[in-house]
Amino acid sequence: MHMQFEDLSGKVVLVTGASKGLGKAMAVEFNRYGAKVAANYNASREKAQELKKDNPEIEIFKADVSDRKQVRDMIGSIIATFGRIDIIVNNAGVWKLQAFEEFDESAFERMWRVNLLGAVYTTLEALPYLKKNGGSIINIASNAGVGTAANGTTLYAITKASLIMLTKRLAFELGQYGIRVNAIAPGWTKTDLTVGGRSSDEVDQLESYFRSRSELHTIGSPEDIARLAVYLGSDYSRFMTGQVIVIDGGRVDNLTHSL
Ligand SMILES: NC(=O)c1ccc[n+]([C@@H]2O[C@H](COP(=O)([O-])OP(=O)(O)OC[C@H]3O[C@@H](n4cnc5c(N)ncnc54)[C@H](OP(=O)(O)O)[C@@H]3O)[C@@H](O)[C@H]2O)c1
Repeated sequence: MHMQFEDLSGKVVLVTGASKGLGKAMAVEFNRYGAKVAANYNASREKAQELKKDNPEIEIFKADVSDRKQVRDMIGSIIATFGRIDIIVNNAGVWKLQAFEEFDESAFERMWRVNLLGAVYTTLEALPYLKKNGGSIINIASNAGVGTAANGTTLYAITKASLIMLTKRLAFELGQYGIRVNAIAPGWTKTDLTVGGRSSDEVDQLESYFRSRSELHTIGSPEDIARLAVYLGSDYSRFMTGQVIVIDGGRVDNLTHSL
């Protein structure tokens, strides 16, 4: 007999940044396991509409997560639609590759506001609802935030390291309400974020570089990350909080402390 994975029907999940990439895969996967999905987007309206068209049960909600008022309004609309929120996935994120010494203030500020404050605002506004029945908060960090290195990612990495500390501290503060808080630290996955605007030769080069950096000689897919998010959202992980789960095929510089 095969064991069925936890059925999530009755749960409502908000995935921020779900118009493409990892967030889209998570919205689809949570929907597949029976959760009611609120998929947030900001700029990519058409892609969000496509997601809705392909998955009619998913509802889409526009908000810039770096703007607290927009986040508050979005949470209000989700409650009006679904009546509750049980799981939030703070996934919306941006990066700008830049050498530390070429510090670009506005790009850094954008990363900081979306990657960190976006998670802070979403969590703050969803908390009154999560507190009602307990819940799960999943922060999408990065293996860059735990110490792996790639050129130009230092400033991005410190926003993700902050998200990891937020995860640990919120686990400490929110356990009393039955709210679990965990982070996923994915390795390099092909999405608009990592390969957008690059030629196919450049993408092939990047892919073979990251394959060579993985103990498994492979790269992950958005679905690999999404399945871990579903696990962390479900009661199968009821005994886990405050954890950072790296999912990167075993990055060589992480496991061996060498480049
Ligand atoms: N891909 C990787 O290799 C990798 C590795 C480690 C960690 N991550 C992290 O995983 C998350 C998803 O990355 P991805 O690779 O899937 O990137 P992506 O394909 O570029 O998607 C990013 C998503 O974030 C949304 N977003 C950006 N700014 C937003 C804002 N202000 N408000 C609301 N949504 C916003 C985008 O929505 P709109 O386009 O609609 O604005 C989009 O849906 C990010 O936090 C990223 O840092 C990715």
